[in-house]
Amino acid sequence: MNINYDTLAADYVNYRVPDYRIDAAIRIHIPRGAKILNVGAGQGSYEPDNADVTAIEPSIEMIAKRASTKATAIQGFAESLPFDDNSFDVSLAILTIHHWQDIQKGLSELRRVTRGKIIILTWNGEYGDFWLPEYLPKIAEIDVGLFPSINQVSDLLGKKSDVEVIEIPHDCTDGFMCAYWQRPEMYLNSAARQAISTFSRLGNISDGLDRLRSDIESGQWHKKHAALLSRTTLDCGYRLVIHDKSVA
Ligand SMILES: C[S@@+](CC[C@H](N)C(=O)[O-])C[C@H]1O[C@@H](n2cnc3c(N)ncnc32)[C@H](O)[C@@H]1O
Repeated sequence: MNINYDTLAADYVNYRVPDYRIDAAIRIHIPRGAKILNVGAGQGSYEPDNADVTAIEPSIEMIAKRASTKATAIQGFAESLPFDDNSFDVSLAILTIHHWQDIQKGLSELRRVTRGKIIILTWNGEYGDFWLPEYLPKIAEIDVGLFPSINQVSDLLGKKSDVEVIEIPHDCTDGFMCAYWQRPEMYLNSAARQAISTFSRLGNISDGLDRLRSDIESGQWHKKHAALLSRTTLDCGYRLVIHDKSVA
């Protein structure tokens, strides 16, 4: 099933606020003055301000909700980028490649249009201590089926990639799947769930959510996950893949 972000765009801006720590981890790889392409750009999260940014995004609603301070986005797909070879110093693909119809084609297009770094934020298929699959096991099944492995991504980019662990802060402002690992009550919030695309693939999850609610209310969740409560970050499997075409 392909997710149409037109239907998810409404509350995205409220629940998917770019997290400044993740932003810094991405930003450090972008040279000052670089000409940047953001693919699967959505509403513009992690696009540097005051920079030469070209954004491309398939969903009209996501494009319509971009702030006026952001570059105007072109409607289009990763698999067919309407740009000449080597047009950009840096390309970004942030939490998007698992949505592409053809990841191999999309990554090949990124390589074609980029002369320098390709920076991809993705997930490695291992949730670690992220506990939501205890209540909603289908989440793991769906996400493992959607996301390519980090080795696959590196191989498709041409092997020589650096991979960085992106630990998720306990108060992460970007409400993607694992963002609320220390705030279980957020998964009971339907608007927060709506901003996480995997939930729209799940069907009826009321039994799992009822169990989670009950465990939160009884204190069982906090007892079972006490070790998480003193942590400030958690490795939930998010990885930054950085491939520099100019040195590969
Ligand atoms: C989770 S959102 C991430 C958006 C943005 N990069 C961010 O970090 O907020 C995934 C985005 O990928 C876009 N997308 C889906 N299929 C795509 C494709 N084939 N090519 C490019 N983008 C695609 C969706 O429309 C959506 O905006």
